[in-house]
Amino acid sequence: MRQIIAGNWKMNGTLAGLAGYAAGLRHGMEGLDLSGTELILCPPFPLIRPLAEAVGDTAVAIGAQDCDAHRKGAHTGDVSADLLAEIGARYVILGHSERRTDHGESSSAVRDKVRAVMAAGMVPIVCVGETEAEREAHEAETVVRAQLAGSLPDDFAGIIAYEPVWAIGSGKIPGEEDVAQMHATIRGFLKRRFSASGGTMPILYGGSVKPENAAALLAIPEVGGALIGGASLRPEDFLAIAAAAKQG
Ligand code: PGA
Repeated sequence: MRQIIAGNWKMNGTLAGLAGYAAGLRHGMEGLDLSGTELILCPPFPLIRPLAEAVGDTAVAIGAQDCDAHRKGAHTGDVSADLLAEIGARYVILGHSERRTDHGESSSAVRDKVRAVMAAGMVPIVCVGETEAEREAHEAETVVRAQLAGSLPDDFAGIIAYEPVWAIGSGKIPGEEDVAQMHATIRGFLKRRFSASGGTMPILYGGSVKPENAAALLAIPEVGGALIGGASLRPEDFLAIAAAAKQG
């Protein structure tokens, strides 16, 4: 199965910096066999269209980091899924822990957004993950199962990203056995809920993925790729992680 390597720029990146990023990406992709890999970059909203244009000659797909659940209307400051699709997004990250925390997004709000993204013909990347306190209290799997149950509609088709909150931006990563166990738990949930399609939905790992730890993380069973924050801001680091993905 193809490995999915997705970059989440968060609130980083500038219009002025796009040409340099795209040039670095193009240069780094020369001679790299990425045939088994799907590369995705999710910049802030205003950079979606320009980044899509800047990397249009490469195999890199563009995504967004959020959207509104409504199709259109009186929702000041929000952006619809249809508009994101129109300007070139093919994926949308939803329910990232920073949105769940900073904006109080509940799992049911995430589920409404997932529906909007699917209706617009894009692929949702739904994030789940426990806090450090929840892991220490041995509640990590219960929390993640509840987030999945609440965030995914019955007709869900998309990607899951397991991101332990305490691993995001911290340089800390869980042990390989903990990642394997959580990914197995998520796979079990998806199979029970979605039958056959649940067996093949990609489950990414996210949280302090770097070129140095990528090969080990991406080799863990049921890890179908990575969601990368900080390290996706430099094309050479992003591609070094992609190159570490298991091929075939
Ligand atoms: P990080 O972020 O790679 O900087 O830890 C990951 C994420 O939040 O998606």
